[in-house]
Amino acid sequence: MNKKRFTLIDNDNKKEYQLDGMEGSIGPDVINISSLYKDTGLFTYDPGFTSTAACNSKITYIDGEKGVLLYRGYPIEQLANNSSFLEVSYLLMHGELPSQSDKVEFENTIKNHTLLNEQITHFFRGFRRDAHPMAMMIGVVGALSAFYHDSLNIEDANHRMISTHRILAKMPTIAAMAFKYHLGEPFMYPLNKYDYTDNFLHMSFATPTKEYEINPLFSKIMDQIFILHADHEQNASTSTVRTAGSSLANPYACISAGISSLWGKSHGGANEAVIDMIQEIKNNDLNPKKFIEEVKNKKNKIRLMGFGHRVYKNYDPRAKVLKKSTEELFKELKIKSKELEIAKEIEELALNDEYFKEKNLYPNVDFYSGILLKALGIPTSMFTPIFAVGRTIGWLSQWKEMIEDQEFKISRPRQLYSGEIDKNYKKVMEREKKSMFNLLWLKKTFLNNQ
Ligand code: ACO
Repeated sequence: MNKKRFTLIDNDNKKEYQLDGMEGSIGPDVINISSLYKDTGLFTYDPGFTSTAACNSKITYIDGEKGVLLYRGYPIEQLANNSSFLEVSYLLMHGELPSQSDKVEFENTIKNHTLLNEQITHFFRGFRRDAHPMAMMIGVVGALSAFYHDSLNIEDANHRMISTHRILAKMPTIAAMAFKYHLGEPFMYPLNKYDYTDNFLHMSFATPTKEYEINPLFSKIMDQIFILHADHEQNASTSTVRTAGSSLANPYACISAGISSLWGKSHGGANEAVIDMIQEIKNNDLNPKKFIEEVKNKKNKIRLMGFGHRVYKNYDPRAKVLKKSTEELFKELKIKSKELEIAKEIEELALNDEYFKEKNLYPNVDFYSGILLKALGIPTSMFTPIFAVGRTIGWLSQWKEMIEDQEFKISRPRQLYSGEIDKNYKKVMEREKKSMFNLLWLKKTFLNNQ
């Protein structure tokens, strides 16, 4: 890696500081500020990490201006159209595509870890039937750490590998069980005759009375959805996993934290929100043109869900692949979908509108994934759990890379403090009286808690 130097000039104090720069294999250079506080007494300020590289990674590269996404150097389009999810999982975890024998061994290893300890079924039964599957996944994945005391030493490379295999293998089982519980149907156990994705479809859609006939096109599309969601460098949920893991927390707890972060509608929850938005337009016979105008009026605080991205200032390459698959599926099934028509109209309107053009707002992966999943017969509450199943390998690969990084440290951001200072403690009777309104509020809260 080439070294660069930058100069920081403190105009007020007439001082200059030299900072090291670092050059990646591609993408923007970075200024190494890790000793800035020690050298200058200054912090940097960057809410939302818009200009901060939090780590040095070899896993995923995004060029947001050009709409490029690479997993370990391979373009996402090539992987989505030619590879399989487990092959991509091996690639993300190990850095290269597997040989034939490594592929068979890896697939067998994952296949042999798909079952859950039977005790886990009791965890599900503790939830209300109407619980969101994401809520169940957060709880159950975290609870797995109570079952594998034999391999929780994260400083042991072998323990780390066993844990990653277990989590990757069990995630479809957990997501499918959450779905079955939600439906009130019996859990379906994984079957070793199926591959990873077909097993997920079987566990989600078969019943003890009826085998689920796997449609090869559905299976291909679901596998593609997993590939497209597998990793996306330092997004909110991955950063959450890295931050949780930086304290040396066990991987089950870290992945559970990642699922929690993914759930938000600014992140993985957006695919569910896209369908809600399109349904609202459809059910209320709204005019998409008018809806776009409502979005543009900032007072309404409405966002066009499935549009915009922190990194992509161009069409999200994953959305391009999904749009093509959506059109193929609808053609193959000969179905006409009002939802797809509305989505395409909205896309067309937004892509030709000054507001969206000026702000570089393009469709992201969530814009078409919801429509596609819906066409596969998957209820909206399962959209984000499916995203979580796909993203698990990215979280695990990033977690492993972090633990094995020589520069690894606990994550501990600093802050700009703007609160009060120099206050002195007063006994309760000496403090100012609360207003009548506050007293009434306290009384109401107290009474409600009885
Ligand atoms: N609809 C309307 N306006 C938008 C949208 C949108 N979807 N997204 C951004 N904007 C506008 C903002 O109002 C803001 O305008 P301003 O500069 O006049 O104030 C400007 O574009 C920049 O928006 P920010 O929120 O600052 O951009 P940021 O990078 O922080 O947010 C995000 C990115 C959260 C994805 C945002 O675009 C958004 O909320 N999109 C909708 C939700 C969504 O689809 N999320 C999925 C992301 S992909 C994923 O996680 C897998």
